[in-house]
Amino acid sequence: MTTLSFAVDADGVALITLNDPSKPMNVVSPEFIDDLIAAIERVASDAAIKGAVITSGKAAFMAGADLKYIVNMIDGITPEVAYEFSQKASVPMHRRLETCGKPFVAAINGLALGGGYELALACHYRVIVDDPKAVVGLPEVTVGLLAGSGGTQRLPRMIGLEKSLPILLDGKTVGPAEALKLGMVDAVVPAADLIEAARQWILGTPDPVRAWDKKGYRIDLGLLNPANISTYANRPAQIAAQTQRNYPAPIAILSCLYDGMQQTFDNALKLESKYFAKLCVDPVARNIIRTTFVNKGEAAKLVRRPQGIDKKQFTKVGVLGAGMMGSGIAYVSATAGVNVVLLDSKQEFADKGKAYSAKVLGKLVDKGKKKQEQADAILARITPTTDYDALKGCDLVIEAVFEDRAIKADVTRQAEVQLDPSGFFASNTSTLPISGLAKASVNPAKFIGMHFFSPVDRMPLVEVIVGKDTSQETLAHALDYVGQLKMIPIVVNDSRGFYTSRVFQTFIHEGMRMLEEGIAPALIENAARQAGFPVGPLTLTDEVTVELPWKIVQQAIEELGDQFVKPCAYNVMQRMLEELKRPGRKAGKGFYEYPEGGKKFLWPGLKDAFPLAAQQPSVEEIKDRYLAIQALETARCLEEGVLTHATDGDIGSLLAWSFPTWTGGTLSYIDTVGIKQFVAECDRMAKAYGPRFEPSTWLRDRAARGEGFYPSTAHA
Ligand code: NAI
Repeated sequence: MTTLSFAVDADGVALITLNDPSKPMNVVSPEFIDDLIAAIERVASDAAIKGAVITSGKAAFMAGADLKYIVNMIDGITPEVAYEFSQKASVPMHRRLETCGKPFVAAINGLALGGGYELALACHYRVIVDDPKAVVGLPEVTVGLLAGSGGTQRLPRMIGLEKSLPILLDGKTVGPAEALKLGMVDAVVPAADLIEAARQWILGTPDPVRAWDKKGYRIDLGLLNPANISTYANRPAQIAAQTQRNYPAPIAILSCLYDGMQQTFDNALKLESKYFAKLCVDPVARNIIRTTFVNKGEAAKLVRRPQGIDKKQFTKVGVLGAGMMGSGIAYVSATAGVNVVLLDSKQEFADKGKAYSAKVLGKLVDKGKKKQEQADAILARITPTTDYDALKGCDLVIEAVFEDRAIKADVTRQAEVQLDPSGFFASNTSTLPISGLAKASVNPAKFIGMHFFSPVDRMPLVEVIVGKDTSQETLAHALDYVGQLKMIPIVVNDSRGFYTSRVFQTFIHEGMRMLEEGIAPALIENAARQAGFPVGPLTLTDEVTVELPWKIVQQAIEELGDQFVKPCAYNVMQRMLEELKRPGRKAGKGFYEYPEGGKKFLWPGLKDAFPLAAQQPSVEEIKDRYLAIQALETARCLEEGVLTHATDGDIGSLLAWSFPTWTGGTLSYIDTVGIKQFVAECDRMAKAYGPRFEPSTWLRDRAARGEGFYPSTAHA
């Protein structure tokens, strides 16, 4: 046994301590399952053992499944293999533990989630340590799966249908006090008493038969109980509204509940495994886990950092421009323990930038998330100024002044002379190519793009842009800074709009273009939401104003002349600005009307400005069109070397502009559709909507080879 230890005390109580030395957390791995099965058999067969206490030798009890293992396992898995995987943990492990005739107690010494809490559920009694960090729950739904070793069946039988729904369907996790109130645990005790409390329960000769294994057990969780009827009737509609049917897990969980409650416990476990297998075979779980857990985790650990360069620690950073972005960057920097010099052209602007941090911190103090002393310490690290001398000795200066080349060049020259000799300069430009801005620098090797997103304190992504002359050392150190801020970096090469702005533009352009084709505005908006975008492209454009994408286009025309291909929404943007004079929300009128004090609504004049076509496309067609154009542009970024790794494209798309999570990101979407099918679809759309949908030779060749963006480990 390598993942746990086994000891028996003088009273005949076994202590099973989960402690996998190869992992920072105990997780449900194949080795663990084998080890625990062996331990259970030992308890069951040794007459000298009265029962067993299961606890952990690590700070957490158990974190659940090993998601890295799961994602590799489910990629290309067959339903049969997935079913067997679920059954192994479900039957010879948990069910055997539950029915072997000896009592088991879970002594939950720390967090117990997913498979960890399922193990606790299978035990006959649960004692938990009185520590707010010891949360319990079944959050599998958040990664597209379900609790597949008895969780969907034991929890409702223990605590009732209604109370188990937020835990199972929303993945809600709760601390010890709430868990006790809900009936998810049986006792909360101080840490020092945990094992003894568990031991005493066993020594009290408890009945090791669960309620559902007793003769005459009658379940009242089905439709015969009128209290459940509305739950079973309403929940599917609620889930459909929340997920737009893009996420199969909550529906599968609800099916497990509904069907499982009509079955014997053993049959219900088979049913649960069937639904679990169904989710494993569906690409959504793989997509979510791969991008939002595995690859995002790697990015946070700075996987793109060039090797062999000393790590840089930042103590003093300058931020130029105390507007919306600068004030946010100052806030996250000061929160990470860095002293910030926040510089603007006027002292009152710089002060206003610092006031932003005071506002955010004040809210956190009010909510009890920060202590006043902590907030004061963070605020004290920000020095608002107009004086460039204050930047002396900065490890890094981040520029976030107006999006204007001349102004940026001017502040670059003034600030970089103050940098510490080992320091470097970063621009937070959203559209201006980094290599061009670097021309203002005396040392372009020490010039890089660090593109933060708004609002900076809530958007964890930083798009790090490597200019033509940026050195590897500067890249490494820029990533060190993102790491120090505990944010998520992706690394891209210089290009117009870099990666995120470039692909995001295709979404709003496509939406605006549809108006010109006579597609109903409500359809344009609703189809985007049904595809999984938080809001439609017309809403988004109103938020950023039509002026912003228009300015980007004008700038490109100025620089590239005839070489620049006008975007498909060119006419719509021009008409909205010049003829209809509706630039967006800020002006109170855009694609929507914004009545004072009232709710916005689509501008009725749109139907005169852009007459409706007699034939309207299906919602599916519009959804596919949005997803395809963004996926295609991302593929172009990879082809051109703007992106060097598919994972950066996927992480960036989810975090920068909320490309739907179920897809796993823009490139995972292509793999989800299948690259051959995707290329065929793009060809069809190119004929219908224009050459922007035409796949490149590079993509066609890839499709011909059947080479997607992620290697798939097919299972026999
Ligand atoms: P903003 O207009 O809110 O702030 C710019 C600040 O720079 C103002 O406080 C202004 O007084 C100051 N400033 C202007 N000229 C200056 C000078 N010569 N010396 C010192 N300070 C000066 O603009 P925002 O939105 O914060 O954008 C700043 C930069 O960040 C731009 O390059 C923008 O493209 C980029 N960006 C903006 C995003 C957004 O969502 N707003 C997202 C990502 C990047």
